[in-house]
Amino acid sequence: MSIFESRGATRRFGGLVAVDSVSFAVEQGEIFGLIGPNGAGKTTMFNLITALTPPTSGQLLFQGQNIVGKQPHQIAAMGIARTFQNIRLFGNLSALENVKVAQHTHTHANVFAGILGTPGAREEARRVEAKARELLRLVGLGESADEKAKNFSYGDQRRLEIARALALEPKLLLLDEPGAGMNPNEKGILSDLIRQIRDQFNLTIILIEHHVPLVMGLCDRIAVLNFGQLIALGKPAEVQSDPAVIDAYLGD
Ligand SMILES: Nc1ncnc2c1ncn2[C@@H]1O[C@H](COP(=O)(O)OP(=O)(O)OP(=O)(O)O)[C@@H](O)[C@H]1O
Ligand SMILES: [Mg+2]
Repeated sequence: MSIFESRGATRRFGGLVAVDSVSFAVEQGEIFGLIGPNGAGKTTMFNLITALTPPTSGQLLFQGQNIVGKQPHQIAAMGIARTFQNIRLFGNLSALENVKVAQHTHTHANVFAGILGTPGAREEARRVEAKARELLRLVGLGESADEKAKNFSYGDQRRLEIARALALEPKLLLLDEPGAGMNPNEKGILSDLIRQIRDQFNLTIILIEHHVPLVMGLCDRIAVLNFGQLIALGKPAEVQSDPAVIDAYLGD
């Protein structure tokens, strides 16, 4: 069974079909690329999967279960986390706090236990903090844990978003242009990081990214969208040499 499957997912915005009968399946442990020109429907596809936008029609299956109609928090609780193309962090909170906030949706201590400072709540707080610091170290931000998110470079904010998504302990991680705003050296580090977190957390990853060398080097398989339609699906070498893909996206 595939960990995720889109069966004819469609999303219309008025007369525009942003995602047009898209079907593909992602296997457990894959790094799966989703590429295509600007406006192709990539982010909309992520919005469908995470229930920020309902599909007009079609099915989305996670671990064999149709997730259409669920709320975003239910999707997160089932094990799907994401980062955003337009970074969504709490700018005035520290990196550490940004990660801890995400974890709190996942921990058990209730608010009263927190206020009363019960031993259980204190222990939980220690655990949450230790884990947040560990995730920040993992993404290369261990030294900046107490820095406000808004003071981070664009690339560091994207890494912080990855740490925050990992705090939800997802099974499926959706990364929307994680390399945007990074220089080639940072993109190389990012590529290693994505592979490392896949291995370490036994994750499946769907990656939207425009930087072709990064996508080709990192992804096990790649799906190509163009005007909402899936025009190619296969291994990097197959996709890269596909005339329809070259025509629509890769160009000369
Ligand atoms: N909420 C919305 N209302 C109306 N149109 C939308 C909405 N969201 C997306 N669209 C349109 O749907 C199409 C697909 O947009 P989407 O953001 O999914 O593209 P994308 O592939 O992520 O592009 P990019 O590479 O620029 O991020 C675009 O034409 C966009 O303008
Ligand atoms: Mg997008």
